[in-house]
Amino acid sequence: MKIRKAVFPVAGYGTRMLPATKAIPKEMITLIDKPLIQYSVEEAIDSGIEQIIFITGRAKKSMEDHFDMNVELNKILLESGRTKLYEDMKRISEMADIIYVRQKEQLGLGHAILCAKDILKGEPFAVILPDDIILSKEPVISQLIRQYERVNGNIISLMPIKAEHARRYGIVSIDTRVDERMYKLADMVEKPKDTPLSEFAIIGRYILTPDILNILETTQPETGNEIQLTDALRTLAKNGHVFGYEFDGMRFDCGEKIGLLEATINFAAQNSELAPELRRIMSKLDYKD
Ligand code: UTP
Repeated sequence: MKIRKAVFPVAGYGTRMLPATKAIPKEMITLIDKPLIQYSVEEAIDSGIEQIIFITGRAKKSMEDHFDMNVELNKILLESGRTKLYEDMKRISEMADIIYVRQKEQLGLGHAILCAKDILKGEPFAVILPDDIILSKEPVISQLIRQYERVNGNIISLMPIKAEHARRYGIVSIDTRVDERMYKLADMVEKPKDTPLSEFAIIGRYILTPDILNILETTQPETGNEIQLTDALRTLAKNGHVFGYEFDGMRFDCGEKIGLLEATINFAAQNSELAPELRRIMSKLDYKD
């Protein structure tokens, strides 16, 4: 079945980016000249996704406004002859068919995905965590969809990491290597304290089959009262239905300060308007350890 829908769980508090996220959602923080959320919405659309389901919480109204039509602004831009900007604004509001679902209590990523169950109507779907911004030739969701079409199972995006960084990520354990970048997964563990099961971390892009929703319904919350997606995926992996794909691209964790900074520098370096000035600024920097 074609992957037509993408779930964007965006109900989190974004505490790692406080105070920036006190009054605006983390997803509306700017990377160069666009809010973070726009990068992943564009990634989804460029991958053939037709419907986007935002799982939102409190204080997320500015995100809805961003993808809505601003009639007054459009009129001003048109009347003042700024047609390029007008076209850009119009494109954003026509970008996607977006549905908003409210997660009333923040009971974890697994619970957030479960909130989309009625809208997913038994179809396989993509999940995108928009904190993870990925620079790549082919959008990562498109890479995962191609793999899904081959194996017809759940696909998790994987990134190789150094063992000493494993405790920041969900880490998978490999059952078998299918081919160059594709693995059948045996198990996974969230933020391991001991020796990691492998060098592969789970990144915020997934293609999931509807059976995950039934498992999530019976998955018990962990300490902190959160229903974890990883726990439900473990159950599926033990039945042999989960694959991991080492995507092609460079990932930045824009949910934390250094990741956002690194993304800003890398995106600017790829931008022909900004790159020369960036180089000049960097060469003049006075680094102090
Ligand atoms: P994070 O672990 O990054 O949490 O959630 P957070 O609240 O966004 O940020 P920090 O850690 O406090 O800084 C991973 C993803 O799951 C969503 C978040 O919005 C984020 O996209 N999420 C998490 C929900 O939608 N609902 C939840 O109950 C928890």
